[in-house]
Amino acid sequence: MKEWQKKHILGIKDLNKEELETVFTLANSFKEISERDVKKVPALRGKTIINLFFENSTRTRTSFELAAKRLSADVVNFSSSNSSLTKGETIIDTIKTLEAYHPNIMIVRLNASACLQSFINYTQASIINAGDGRNEHPTQALLDMFTVKEAKGSLENLNVLIVGDIGNSRVARSNIFGFQRYASKITVCGPPTFIPYEFNEMGVSVSYNLDDVIGQADVIIMLRIQSERQDDLFLPSLREYTDKFSLTPERLKKVKKDCLIMHPGPVNWDVEISSAIKNKIHPLILKQAENGLAVRMAVLYLIGTKKREI
Ligand code: CP
Repeated sequence: MKEWQKKHILGIKDLNKEELETVFTLANSFKEISERDVKKVPALRGKTIINLFFENSTRTRTSFELAAKRLSADVVNFSSSNSSLTKGETIIDTIKTLEAYHPNIMIVRLNASACLQSFINYTQASIINAGDGRNEHPTQALLDMFTVKEAKGSLENLNVLIVGDIGNSRVARSNIFGFQRYASKITVCGPPTFIPYEFNEMGVSVSYNLDDVIGQADVIIMLRIQSERQDDLFLPSLREYTDKFSLTPERLKKVKKDCLIMHPGPVNWDVEISSAIKNKIHPLILKQAENGLAVRMAVLYLIGTKKREI
């Protein structure tokens, strides 16, 4: 395997297929560690990792924290709500202040899109994007792809259908960049007001009718409606949305037998997916969360031990 060269992970857009495969191979071996009695290895002993979350999170924050601890790093969890940001300190001054403690890695979640690149000017630490606004959520796409590869054995030439609040979704953008590395055919589906024109230029198909496309998919990624990212919901009503785009028991009958139905979480049951089929759908969503830990261990290992042979 080749040496890992990247200092930062800001987006899947920046990773080639070989780098994606390196993460998946390593994540596979880290899954085994999570099944041991003692779930810890000394790979990042002496390294300092700051979990810097300016926006709420359950899955990403806890799995990065656990991943860092299982690799024996020292971890600090920063959340904006109980920080000096509430007293008027700026985000850049916060980064500069944390840099004074010489961290090795900063894992950053932010509600602004595509401005993490500028953080590099204020810290020597590696930056890992834990979701930045509408831009990218690279480790979510890595864990989604890892979960698909684990279930199907390959990521090549799949029909991937992404449904819902496409325009607001960093998960959609990162998964599109990732699955395109494997020549997969991607369709985004939702109301026209949820699919900005930029998606027509990303090499994906666009559909406004879920019933037309649901039967061809090998993988379906259902997305959450992100009410926090829109002043007014671009929809006449939530009822109309669920009628046309919710995964219901009736629609589930139309999907291929071996189709994987995923959701990055958190799920709004009875909006994106009917709670009547929760017992069928939730186990794979929880598997995604479980795989997120192994994938984030792999990412921290590669970034934290850069230039080490694996
Ligand atoms: N999927 C995801 O990013 O979830 P959290 O917001 O809980 O981290």
